[in-house]
Formats: sequence, structure tokens, C-alpha cells
Amino acid sequence: MAQIFHPAANPFARFSIFGAVFLAIGALWLTGAITRSAWFTRSNVARDQPVPFTHELHSGKLGLDCRYCHTSVEESPFAGLPPTQTCMNCHTQIWADAPMLEPVRQSWQTGRPIAWTRVYDLADFCAFDHSIHLRKGIGCSTCHGSVDRMPLMWQTVSLFMEWCLDCHRQPERFIRPREAVFRMDDEPPLDQPRIGRELVERYHVRPSTDCTTCHR
Ligand code: HEC
Ligand code: HEC
Ligand code: HEC
Ligand code: HEC
Ligand code: HEC
Repeated sequence: MAQIFHPAANPFARFSIFGAVFLAIGALWLTGAITRSAWFTRSNVARDQPVPFTHELHSGKLGLDCRYCHTSVEESPFAGLPPTQTCMNCHTQIWADAPMLEPVRQSWQTGRPIAWTRVYDLADFCAFDHSIHLRKGIGCSTCHGSVDRMPLMWQTVSLFMEWCLDCHRQPERFIRPREAVFRMDDEPPLDQPRIGRELVERYHVRPSTDCTTCHR
């Protein structure tokens, strides 16, 4: 039977088979790289908001405590976003007629909450609880960055499952004294290894990596 391919075509055939495999691997890698990239997760991108509320001014310069607005963060799974009343405590007097604050006044008059764009938002099949993390010495800035320097809010971490697990496996790398959970510096101190191990013992920190801890 006549050969379909001339023997000289063999190197080409081999090359194209390898080529196809490489292409497939390349495509897989690219998909992975894209879904993991900051562009896809939109981390480090400041989100537009109906009102350009700034933590840099309200937390940083004015020094308002996180709990003034995120009132339930210590007692419940949710930090919560402040009702318009909280803004009006000050903005009936300060910048009372500023056009920038029109959506706040409208919300106040109509009773409809301001439609903030969510920044940190896990899929519905994940359970997260703020109160336990604070009680066990994990600070806001470990997960949200230096919020007091953000004009508009952006996401500072990937929120991928590996990110949660990284800490659940080695909490001693991130834990801090309970009284420091609201401090905004997000770099662990130089003697973190020693402090970390000590605090893990003192607070009986045993994070679970069972699937049902986060997926129920
Ligand atoms: C004067 C009220 C106020 C104070 C004080 C305040 N926040 Fe906020 N925070 C808001 C408002 C309003 C939003 C929604 C708009 C936005 O995302 O910027 C918000 C959003 C956030 C978000 C993003 C929520 C999301 O959409 O997922 C985080 C994280 C956050 N705040 C953390 C903090 C931390 C940490 C502190 C203390 C250092 C703090 N906030 C202090 C009012 C406040
Ligand atoms: C261990 C990580 C971690 C710590 C510590 C943490 N947060 Fe969060 N925060 C998250 C995650 C994850 C979400 C998204 C939750 C969701 O979508 O269900 C979130 C959501 C929020 C939101 C949006 C509203 C809500 O309740 O979901 C605010 C506001 C917020 N955090 C503020 C804070 C403040 C203030 C602190 C410190 C007192 C803090 N967070 C500490 C991880 C953390
Ligand atoms: C404790 C008082 C206080 C509270 C509560 C408060 N603000 Fe302010 N806000 C101020 C002050 C003070 C300024 C700065 C005014 C100036 O620069 O002269 C300001 C400025 C602003 C600005 C202008 C920022 C800029 O770019 O200069 C916006 C927008 C704003 N606030 C929105 C809000 C919203 C939305 C809330 C509720 C979530 C809120 N504020 C709660 C005191 C407050
Ligand atoms: C920087 C460290 C850190 C990060 C990041 C972190 N956790 Fe945790 N988590 C802890 C610690 C510490 C505990 C407390 C463990 C204990 O009870 O001893 C905890 C406890 C929990 C609990 C409560 C478990 C129980 O026994 O009820 C849940 C649920 C949880 N984490 C979910 C998450 C999810 C989901 C994420 C990612 C979105 C996350 N955590 C990210 C440190 C972290
Ligand atoms: C500490 C909390 C935590 C634990 C423990 C955990 N997961 Fe997840 N898981 C997450 C988070 C957070 C996400 C991402 C959610 C999102 O994208 O919003 C996720 C996503 C997933 C997804 C969707 C695909 C993906 O990677 O985004 C699957 C499937 C999954 N988890 C399975 C598991 C299994 C199986 C286990 C047990 C071996 C487990 N998870 C343990 C927090 C956890």
C-alpha cells in the first residue's frame, strides 16, 4: 500500500503533534493565569461608588473607629454597611449642600438605602464570620489592607480558597494581640514567628481546614 505521507513528512507530523500538545497546555496555563490575575478578580482596582466616600479622610484623617460605621463586626458574621443616618449625623451640618452628597440626602429623604458597590463578596456557597476572626486575633488590615489610606475602596487580596487556607494552616504567621485588631498597619512585626506561636497557644487557635467549615 502506498504511504499516505512521504517519509520526509514525519518530522513535521511529530512537530505538529507536539505543537498541539504545547498549544493545549499553553491555553490551559493562560486560562489559569487570567482567572487568577488581578484583572479578573478586580483586586487593586478602586470601585466606583454612588458617593465618593473616602476611608482615607473619615478613618485616616478624622480618625473615626471602624465600629462607628461597621457596628456589628465584633458580634456577628457581618461587618455591615452604615445606614444613611450615620452619614447624616455629620452631613446635616458639614457640606450640607454639597452636590457630591446629593445621593446621601436623597436616600435620607426617600428612605431608600444608598446602593454601594460591594468590594469583598464571596460566592454564596462560602460561609465567613467576622466575629470569630477578631476574637482570635486576626486584624482588619490582614484581610482588607490599610483601609485608612484608601480614597476609594479596593480589594487587596485574591479571596481565593487558597488564600483562606494559607492562614488556616499557619495562623501564627498573621495573628496579633486582640487589642491590636483594629490597627491599620498590615506588615507583621519582625519577631512575628515568636509572638505568633505564643498567641496561638494563648488564644487556643485551631482553624479548621475541613470542607464543611466554609461550605455548608
Ligand atoms: C464613616 C463611616 C465609616 C467608617 C468609620 C469606616 N467605614 Fe468602611 N465603609 C463605609 C462605607 C459607607 C462603605 C461602603 C462604600 C465603600 O466601599 O467605600 C464601607 C466599606 C468598607 C469595606 C468594603 C466593604 C465591601 O463592599 O465589601 C471595608 C473592607 C471597610 N469598609 C473596612 C473598614 C475598616 C477596616 C474601617 C476602620 C479602619 C472602616 N471601614 C471605617 C463606612 C465607614
Ligand atoms: C480573616 C479575614 C477578614 C478579617 C480579619 C476582616 N474581614 Fe471584613 N471581610 C472579609 C471577607 C472574606 C468579606 C466578604 C464576606 C462575604 O462576602 O460573605 C468581608 C466583608 C467585609 C465588609 C462588607 C460587609 C459585610 O459585612 O460583609 C466590611 C464592611 C468589612 N468586611 C469590614 C471589616 C472590618 C471593619 C474588619 C476589622 C474589624 C474586618 N472586616 C476584618 C474578610 C475579613
Ligand atoms: C463624624 C462625622 C462624619 C461622618 C459620620 C461622615 N462624614 Fe463625611 N465628612 C466629614 C468631614 C469632616 C468631611 C470633610 C469636610 C471638609 O473637607 O471640609 C467629610 C467629607 C465627606 C465627603 C467629601 C470627600 C472629599 O472628597 O472631600 C464625602 C463624599 C463624604 N464625607 C461622605 C460621607 C458618607 C457617605 C458618610 C456616611 C457613610 C459620611 N460621609 C459620614 C465628616 C463625617
Ligand atoms: C489571616 C488568617 C485567616 C484568614 C485569611 C482566614 N481565616 Fe478563617 N479563621 C482564622 C482563625 C485564626 C480562626 C479561628 C480558629 C479557632 O476557632 O481557633 C478562623 C475561623 C474561621 C471560621 C470559623 C470556624 C468555626 O469553627 O466555626 C470560618 C467559617 C472561617 N474561618 C472561614 C474563613 C474563610 C471562608 C476565609 C477566606 C475567605 C478565611 N476564614 C480566611 C484565620 C483566618
Ligand atoms: C477556610 C475556608 C475554606 C475551606 C476549609 C474550604 N474551602 Fe473551598 N472555597 C473557599 C473559598 C473562599 C472559595 C472561593 C469562593 C469565591 O470564589 O467566592 C472556595 C471555593 C471552592 C470551590 C469552587 C472552585 C474554586 O476553587 O473556586 C470548590 C469546588 C471548593 N471550594 C471545594 C472545597 C473542598 C472539597 C474543601 C475541603 C477539602 C474546601 N473547599 C475547603 C473556602 C474554603
